[in-house]
Amino acid sequence: MYETREIAVGVYWVGVRDWDRRLFDALIPMPAGTTYNSYLVEGREKVALIDTVNPGFEGELKGKLEQLGSWGKIDYLIMNHAEPDHAGGIPFVLEHNPRAKLVLNAKGAKLAKALFHVGEERMQLVQDGDRLELGGRTLRFIEAPFLHWPETMFTFLEQEKVLFPCDFFGSHHAGGAFADEVPDLLAYAKKYFGEIMMPFAKNGRNGLAKLEGMEIRMIAPSHGPVHRDPEPIVNSYLSWTSGETVPKVTICYATMWQATKAMVDVFAQTLMREGVDAQVYNLAVSDLASIAGDLVDSRGIVLGGPTVLNGLHPLALHAANVVRVIKPPAKYAALLSSYGWGGGAVKQALEVLAPLKLEALGAIDVNGYPTADDLKKTEELARKMAQRVKEPLT
Ligand code: FEO
Repeated sequence: MYETREIAVGVYWVGVRDWDRRLFDALIPMPAGTTYNSYLVEGREKVALIDTVNPGFEGELKGKLEQLGSWGKIDYLIMNHAEPDHAGGIPFVLEHNPRAKLVLNAKGAKLAKALFHVGEERMQLVQDGDRLELGGRTLRFIEAPFLHWPETMFTFLEQEKVLFPCDFFGSHHAGGAFADEVPDLLAYAKKYFGEIMMPFAKNGRNGLAKLEGMEIRMIAPSHGPVHRDPEPIVNSYLSWTSGETVPKVTICYATMWQATKAMVDVFAQTLMREGVDAQVYNLAVSDLASIAGDLVDSRGIVLGGPTVLNGLHPLALHAANVVRVIKPPAKYAALLSSYGWGGGAVKQALEVLAPLKLEALGAIDVNGYPTADDLKKTEELARKMAQRVKEPLT
């Protein structure tokens, strides 16, 4: 017996739970696994499947659809997004559902052709605002580009008022059917936002603007549980996409012989003494997803790392590169570094982070272990950071 769930009348979750997955894009840790959500929508005359599943799970999807009596009878396969974790099952579904048309937009068609070699004869192109009648059920398509690929779109079931936004509003969590059943789900959603959607915050605001004024009773994303109360996740996204920050500083550092760590400890203690939320990540033992989650609303960033072979320690360099591409809304930065016989870390860190246009409040680069004077300077820099992040934003 396969797990399916009727989330609204005639609307079935037929996705899969991947409890074991621990890494996405060979980069992002997923401590709680994830789901690949596919949804079956039954109309009086036609049956639609919204998105598929990650490659390797096609058999489970088939089993669920067989159980519901719909396998082989799909009329429309909706592709909200071409990334293989949702679209990887398309060739299999098309092969076994001969009358199914792949419903997608023009940009999606190019990607479906390139990634899955789908022939044009199987495609039905839609544009923003187009509707698809299933018989007593209407699907409306809302283009939402770059959330987070160029072809991304939302599908809205008008009668039941269920929004299927694919990755948007998602979370990497394999548990629960509904968001309110998973403790701290919003913390997972925030990490997910930081990893995937933060570089596209402007597109996120555009996507939210398109939803404004719509009555949405339920949000059924492609990862994580379904939001049967849309308000918490929509309000969170309104805040996260706006770039609102709080008096919080995320400190990421690598250390080899604890010289950089000694400065990080003083910096963090000073921030906390000044009433600032300090989140400290030793990059040797921390996960990028948690860092990305904290960067969603941190007003300050501190990068720490010693010089290794004339440049920044590779772990700190990797973190700096990730921070650069996920584009957090932080305003202020500070650097903490140490070296044995020749520097280079600070120069490289500044170069990598330059595109973010952070205001650099200072850098402390010590030869060997920090002296009492170095630690005093570290404390002063931390106090300066505390003062700046506590200032009301204009
Ligand atoms: Fe979950 Fe962008 O794929």
